[in-house]
Amino acid sequence: MAKHTVVTMPGDGIGNQVLPEALRILRAVEFDAEYVHADIGWECWRREGNALPERTVDLLARHKLGLFGAITSKPKKEAEAELAPELRGKGYSYFSPIVTMRQRFNLDTCIRPCISFPGNPLNFIRKKVSGGFEEPFVNVVVFRQNTEGLYAGVEWTNPPEQVRAAFATHTKFKPFAATPGLDLAISVRIITRRAAHKICQAAFEWAKKYGYKSVTICEKPNVLRETSGMMEDEAKAVAKEYPGIALWSTNIDAQTMWLTKNPEDYGVVVASNLFGDVISDAFAGLIGGLGFAASGNIGDEVAVFEPTHGSAPKYAGLDPSIVNPIAMFLSAVMMLDHVGESDKASRIRAAIAAVVKEGKVRTYDMMRIPGGAQAISQGAASTVQMTNAVLGKLETGAELAYAFSERESV
Ligand code: NAI
Ligand code: MG
Repeated sequence: MAKHTVVTMPGDGIGNQVLPEALRILRAVEFDAEYVHADIGWECWRREGNALPERTVDLLARHKLGLFGAITSKPKKEAEAELAPELRGKGYSYFSPIVTMRQRFNLDTCIRPCISFPGNPLNFIRKKVSGGFEEPFVNVVVFRQNTEGLYAGVEWTNPPEQVRAAFATHTKFKPFAATPGLDLAISVRIITRRAAHKICQAAFEWAKKYGYKSVTICEKPNVLRETSGMMEDEAKAVAKEYPGIALWSTNIDAQTMWLTKNPEDYGVVVASNLFGDVISDAFAGLIGGLGFAASGNIGDEVAVFEPTHGSAPKYAGLDPSIVNPIAMFLSAVMMLDHVGESDKASRIRAAIAAVVKEGKVRTYDMMRIPGGAQAISQGAASTVQMTNAVLGKLETGAELAYAFSERESV
């Protein structure tokens, strides 16, 4: 019997192109695992009225470890229109399966590393005052609270009377009190002290484990006094337990500005759900964007790893596939680290670094050319060719040492 069982959920669109490639990489490093396929995504919604079928939930509950590709989500009306005719009008509502999965298994800690690979033509560069350009080495890991905040899903258009009445007890609700129900949309930002504490603790633990000097809490406590205030309070409380690690505090708006000014100054960044989503995408933009952005959704029992990107429907039908599988590989690497297979994780990371550094094999996004079938004739590598390049580097240890020493010196 294999040591690990991984529930694989390719999902929709390019999820089906990148996830199988990640499995080729995992097999190449002889990760001792068995893979169990699970259905998720748009077809499940269309045919069953549920984008996250119970059989998939059961598999995750049993095996505790998941690798996820991407799903397609569509707005409410479109979702209803695509539902199988026999299911229409029966009260089915579309919910994003990944958001549901995070909530069902309390995958409350989302980790999104944004670390530049030397030689990546998509890395952020900055103009030097003295002339010329410099490329700051970005080494940021974003910790995003994954289950609460504005994504908790407590929201209404036309809120029920009791809800309106409750809001009316708050003096700040006065200007909105006369708005007709159908013209009034409310999303509630919920933060619990427990979850705030936990995400801050996870951020500091990571900083300690991987030698980061600072943790930055990125909120907006001067305006969102209650919810961001609680996040800040907990960050301060946790910081006391980690005397060697500095706690910095930034506002989300200012942070998005500073990000391009001095990204090399940041280490671990922690934020509530929406702000963490925003800031992790912003940092990912500095290190290559969606083709390089990986993430882990970690709960007490279950953990699911996924690239940040979506299903990119416009490229889903292309043969050969053109999308960059590196974000998916890096998600698999995070999974290896999570289950204690750090040697295998490091080998893959180094092989990717070597391919990027060498610059011979680049998917269309790395060449900054438009995507589409024509990209291949313009010299872009296909998804499979990128995998082959990484597999090639995995076979040559010398390249790996080289990639690592280069990385240290940036
Ligand atoms: P997307 O991430 O699917 O694609 C946006 C654009 O980024 C693509 O058109 C492509 O140009 C580029 N891109 C994405 N992944 C890439 C890769 N691996 N290599 C190279 N280029 C890549 O986001 P979009 O277009 O906003 O959404 C498409 C669908 O995906 C929607 O239905 C959306 O709801 C869903 N989505 C799902 C997510 C998930 O599964 N976690 C996350 C984001 C969007
Ligand atoms: Mg996002």
